[in-house]
Amino acid sequence: MKKTLILSYTPRDNSNTKKMLDFFIENNQEKTEITLVDLTEEAPDLLLKENLNLYVNRNFGGAELTDEQQSVLAKNDKMMQQLLDTDFVVLASPMYNFSIPATVKAWFDAVIQAGKTFGYTENGIKGLCEDTKALILMTSGSDFGMEPYKGVNFATPFLITAFDFLGIPAEAINKFGMIQYADKSEQMIAEAKEDIKMVSDKWY
Ligand SMILES: Cc1cc2nc3c(=O)[nH]c(=O)nc-3n(C[C@H](O)[C@H](O)[C@H](O)COP(=O)(O)O)c2cc1C
Repeated sequence: MKKTLILSYTPRDNSNTKKMLDFFIENNQEKTEITLVDLTEEAPDLLLKENLNLYVNRNFGGAELTDEQQSVLAKNDKMMQQLLDTDFVVLASPMYNFSIPATVKAWFDAVIQAGKTFGYTENGIKGLCEDTKALILMTSGSDFGMEPYKGVNFATPFLITAFDFLGIPAEAINKFGMIQYADKSEQMIAEAKEDIKMVSDKWY
């Protein structure tokens, strides 16, 4: 059975993004082996002075770390391994401040590791998660297809680029305008479910 890693950052009570994710899980739990990581309960470590230097010395400098040093990197390494071990990734998150929540960015900082999930070749940088596919489920409060926010959705370009860097083709199901079009939010979720079903049928 193919494996699916689900990354959920949906902390708000009655989260609309979670409704989309719950539908994905309901629709597919018999068809795939799911590992669910709730990023609001198990957050990756931010890259700070100690772990950043250990990571750089190990992954770029080839340094052998002691068990104690290795344990400093253990949480983020575990998240990276979950990515290496999966066939599919589903990331569910709202938009925060024109971009992604810091915790979601921390997940990318944890798993994008030189020599493990991307590498340097004669032809440049290569993502090493090539047999993996990703689906992004995102909602926002405002409509990003019209002014004043047209062109300032930094979330989707970042997510598509970051997955692509890892060698992972990603598609996004975005339901933007949940607050702006509050009266249509139910309908938007229903549309998202149709899209989720189409991706699921392609995957499994
Ligand atoms: C901290 C925070 C920042 C937000 N920033 C934005 C934003 O930049 N643009 C936007 O359209 N909506 C923004 N919103 C609104 C949410 O993206 C929107 O309500 C989303 O649907 C919430 O998802 P949820 O129902 O899964 O919690 C923000 C909400 C919060 C709580």
